[in-house]
Amino acid sequence: MSEISLNRENEIFIRALKAREGAYCPYSHYAVGACVETEDGSFFDGCNIENASYGLTVCAERVAIFKAVSESSKKNGAVLRIKRIAIAGGAKGDNPDGYAYPCGACRQVIREFADENTEIIIIKSTDDYKISSLGELLPDSFGPDHLKKE
Ligand code: THU
Repeated sequence: MSEISLNRENEIFIRALKAREGAYCPYSHYAVGACVETEDGSFFDGCNIENASYGLTVCAERVAIFKAVSESSKKNGAVLRIKRIAIAGGAKGDNPDGYAYPCGACRQVIREFADENTEIIIIKSTDDYKISSLGELLPDSFGPDHLKKE
């Protein structure tokens, strides 16, 4: 755990970095941590989970999002909304040495539960990070609205 004290603003940073320590990445040795903050103020963490059948690997972002959907208190058809998602990635065992932007598949999965203004925070460290909106990372996207019946 980092030395800095925990508060609401930085909790998502600490959680994403901490989640990264749990990555199961024996093939790529590239460890990713993610943390989703939902509109109702809950946090859900995830790490990448690889598989000997490589294509079955699941990214950290999707683990965090699927945990949020499955474990959140929203039930009875209420749709979870992501307020922010933070991501930290880099060679396992080292601090991130670059900005690990989400892959295309994860951008689309974020899109399902977010809108163009949702913040995506790419963390190198608690004081070195970049913030993009989903609209910047996935412009002109396809989403649930396209399937709504008139
Ligand atoms: N990875 C993620 O966890 N998130 C991404 O957005 C990109 C890639 C993981 C998958 C794999 O375990 C490792 O990073 C190398 O691709």
